[in-house]
Amino acid sequence: MTPPQADAAAAPDALARPVASTSPLLRGPVLVTGGAGFIGSHLCARLVREGAAVMAIDDLSTGDRANLAPLGNGRFSLTAHNVVERFDHACSAIFHLACPASPRAYQRAPIDTVKTAVFGTLHALENAEAHGARMLLASTSEVYGDPQVHPQREDYTGAVDPTGPRACYDEGKRCGETLATEFARQRGLDVRIARIFNTYGPRMQPDDGRVVSNFIMQALTGQPLTVYGDGSQTRSLCYVSDLIEGLLRLMDSALDASPVNLGNPQEITVLDLAERILRLTRSRSRIAFKPLPRDDPRRRRPDIARARTHLNWQPQVPLDEGLERTVHWFMRQVDADTELKLVPVQHSRAAANAPTASE
Ligand SMILES: NC(=O)c1ccc[n+]([C@@H]2O[C@H](COP(=O)([O-])OP(=O)(O)OC[C@H]3O[C@@H](n4cnc5c(N)ncnc54)[C@H](O)[C@@H]3O)[C@@H](O)[C@H]2O)c1
Repeated sequence: MTPPQADAAAAPDALARPVASTSPLLRGPVLVTGGAGFIGSHLCARLVREGAAVMAIDDLSTGDRANLAPLGNGRFSLTAHNVVERFDHACSAIFHLACPASPRAYQRAPIDTVKTAVFGTLHALENAEAHGARMLLASTSEVYGDPQVHPQREDYTGAVDPTGPRACYDEGKRCGETLATEFARQRGLDVRIARIFNTYGPRMQPDDGRVVSNFIMQALTGQPLTVYGDGSQTRSLCYVSDLIEGLLRLMDSALDASPVNLGNPQEITVLDLAERILRLTRSRSRIAFKPLPRDDPRRRRPDIARARTHLNWQPQVPLDEGLERTVHWFMRQVDADTELKLVPVQHSRAAANAPTASE
């Protein structure tokens, strides 16, 4: 048995509520699809800390085994599997997260993204049904598309262009929600749907093209921070440990399959974010303004009244504190990765020309 190692990226959960002993999370094994990814690895770590036996499945397309190394293999296992193919694991709960999440990743193979979002969710639901498990679907604020209503409440049906460059992800996730809802409605499956808004923290991929990782990497490697438009577009950023707490509470709740927004309602402009990151990294990089890409959402902000009321949940980690922890983690990655130190950011993995992704 491999002993667990100290986890430098572990998110503090001092404000976390312990999982109840009656929870389906502690009744039998918990399956986490996409467990090797950014959010999945924090979720697996938290579940193991709570005493759950956790099985992760992941095709490692955007995830990394290294994210799970601190968990050892006592109460934890990882199986390499693509959820587009059926799977069968006895379990009492499934967190279904497997899906590329950054625009750069999901636009790389759009047809595969649709298949993952639709067939992967179908297979997770069938696995849950076969074993009487409760399932939580990791959906997204992208189901609201380029919203005409602010902040977004769960009953807002969204403004998505079904043929736009983000449609493979947005429409795939919308169809995933439809499947999950029909499994609940028609077949009585115990389903939860989390609409996750922009989440950040340690273990984001440095090259994923999302706004937080872009800015941090650019600042740490002395490149200009790319701001699209005039930077007045806003983002709402949730620190990963807050999101994990929300996911656990939702899974544990008596709510039905109606979607629940999980995100941070504090809005910040992209320009303000760039300036904070320059301050935190003490970087001398400048800010470079570029034209706004197509489909870049102007505003995205969750209405979290439902989560507040039914889950007694709201984000706790202030933005500067979360950014500081994230910056420190990225600093360690840059120090450890000579390739990243030697290859200028915009020529290698990073982000100079990527859209300021909303996820
Ligand atoms: N990070 C965010 O801000 C955010 C926002 C909204 C929704 N979400 C959702 O949360 C989930 C996790 O996102 P993340 O940010 O951790 O992304 P991530 O890319 O780090 O994690 C996704 C994981 O799923 C795995 N995966 C992808 N396709 C797969 C397939 N076909 N079969 C098996 N495994 C597969 C990847 O290898 C990766 O480990 C996704 O479903 C995403 O849509 C994330």
